[in-house]
Amino acid sequence: MESNHAQRKNEHLSLATKLYDQVHTNSLDSMQIIHHSLPEIALKEVTTATSCGRLNFTSPFFIEAMTGGSQNAYQVNQELAILAKKYQLAMALGSASIIFHDPAARKSFSVVREINPDGIIIANLSAKASLEQARTIIELLNADALELHINTTQELIMNDGDRDFHWLSNIESLINHLDVPVIVKEVGFGMNTATINQLQSIGVQLINISGRGGTNFAAIEDRRNRHTNFNFLNDWGQTTLESLLEARQARKGTTQIIASGGICSPLDVVKAGILGANAVGVAGYFLNLLIRDGFDALDKEINNWQATLPRLLTLLGCRSFNELTTIDFVLHGKELEYAQQRHLI
Ligand code: FNR
Repeated sequence: MESNHAQRKNEHLSLATKLYDQVHTNSLDSMQIIHHSLPEIALKEVTTATSCGRLNFTSPFFIEAMTGGSQNAYQVNQELAILAKKYQLAMALGSASIIFHDPAARKSFSVVREINPDGIIIANLSAKASLEQARTIIELLNADALELHINTTQELIMNDGDRDFHWLSNIESLINHLDVPVIVKEVGFGMNTATINQLQSIGVQLINISGRGGTNFAAIEDRRNRHTNFNFLNDWGQTTLESLLEARQARKGTTQIIASGGICSPLDVVKAGILGANAVGVAGYFLNLLIRDGFDALDKEINNWQATLPRLLTLLGCRSFNELTTIDFVLHGKELEYAQQRHLI
């Protein structure tokens, strides 16, 4: 019999899969890239490598934080780690808070490092984590970076979630005391310029805006609740496209932006790059393929994304992922309205 914490991890995995088609609305579909017929480039001149601070990624997309802490999570992490190694993808793990209640959960995290000794592995904890907790998980994984998730919407919907969100000074202290890069990330509700400004003001250099459009933790936690109903929050937050526009406005100095939330094709990866993302995280879409269609289906899909991305950069005349920010685009519909009202274009 698994612990309540492990049970919650299993429910997240199964509800993220069950609800994905119902909640998935890709904001990036409202963005039209302007085609140029004379790119004056050859495929062999293109590299898709990118960097986020000290992290050098051979591929601009990576496996974003999902799980750890139960037997199902062990299996998911194991399979994702095999593919991360095969395709040299960075991989973030789900929140490791569970190992501080349930030491048996450690192996569902450490298995990822055992399988992929040289890959980029990113640990994940809540923004309220202590320095000791952060050091423990970084050491357990020999992690290359730490993600701190900020998830007020999710916590407030959960009946037993956090109710105190004084996080900034703890984030600042963790950044100042840890040796690895720290990424501050949302969990699918997006960010606005004010949030990004607050994070920059305490020295955060890597920000994952994780916007609405893919996995929806309002819907997931609402489904887990027995006594309360929060389904009116299913559209809460900024979409991934809106958050990237907000970030373009706010970004200062050496801050780098990571995109995630609803990414489900190589074209989405490119669009996020055009909007200024240095790298792109994919969670729900890969999880769905793995759970519904199996390991081979996800293997094939990642292979396809890696083969397609250099061709898309060639089509756009970009020698590198970072050059995508020079590409013109127009917005349609609701996203255009949002951008105009917020003075983002
Ligand atoms: C997540 N996500 C997440 N994020 C985080 O920082 N810590 C975590 O523990 C988890 N757990 C988790 C479990 C499952 C099953 C999923 C699908 C997702 C959120 C994830 O990293 C990402 O920010 C959002 O899911 C949005 O991206 P997608 O899923 O739309 O690609």
